[in-house]
Amino acid sequence: MLVLLQELRSALAHELAIQGPYVPIAATPAAGVAAPAPSVFRSNTGSSPLEEADTPMPTTDLFGNEMDPAEDPTLPPYERIAALIPENSPLRSFNTLAEVEQYVNDTVLIPLDKTRLNAVFGVGNPQADLMIIGEAPGADEDRKGEPFVGRAGQLLNKILEAVGFQREDVYIANILKSRPPGNRDPEPEEVQAHIPILYKQIALIQPKLLLCVGKTAGNSLLGKRSSLAALRGKFHDFYGLPVMATYHPAALLRNPQWKRPTWDDVKLLRAHYDNLVGQS
Ligand code: URA
Repeated sequence: MLVLLQELRSALAHELAIQGPYVPIAATPAAGVAAPAPSVFRSNTGSSPLEEADTPMPTTDLFGNEMDPAEDPTLPPYERIAALIPENSPLRSFNTLAEVEQYVNDTVLIPLDKTRLNAVFGVGNPQADLMIIGEAPGADEDRKGEPFVGRAGQLLNKILEAVGFQREDVYIANILKSRPPGNRDPEPEEVQAHIPILYKQIALIQPKLLLCVGKTAGNSLLGKRSSLAALRGKFHDFYGLPVMATYHPAALLRNPQWKRPTWDDVKLLRAHYDNLVGQS
């Protein structure tokens, strides 16, 4: 056993010397953006299917090092994603979407939370298997307190319907819950402050698949700095959950030539959904 451990240690040391420390792609934040909370550890009372009822999973690896639950592939995605929420955030203690929404309505996390007309928390089926993630509310959404209700929202509804989803069947939320003035791009600090709310929504809703619309939503969630062309057309792994990114409907209104690749993306999404959830 000792020999085996020594061999493992030396193999790992060799590997690290060649490759540098292992950094999973999905957990690598773009500089300053969407930082999944730095090494947040949580107590190990989870409900992994691999876990025996009274045999807690070890919180350390083979070498006695503390494990970050977000990086533990034996845990369910929702536990891993919940572990991204900073330890000192009140979000950790909430058990329902209603509690989270109340917190969002009542709390100023960034200056935009003071200038908004309404917080735009999210809408749809709280048990949806598919979650749509946009960037931030625009003027219409700010007025109504609901995501994707303007022209872009109407096009999003049509895109969903084209592959057999009704708006009410899915859950729709944004990275930012407050409107940036003049619809400017979210600042990295704004994303960092608000994205734990989305982590909590994902952890509570437990969708099987995520669709990010637009480059900002995709990059913010995945911690990347890629072009939409590089992000789209395939599934990314977000702590065990498949994520597709495609064009933002507002971009499609300005560039109708992108409708075709969007159609390809959502067909792929639908096929993967049917595999995971079963045909409806
Ligand atoms: N664009 C977004 O990204 N989200 C909305 O809610 C509306 C427009």
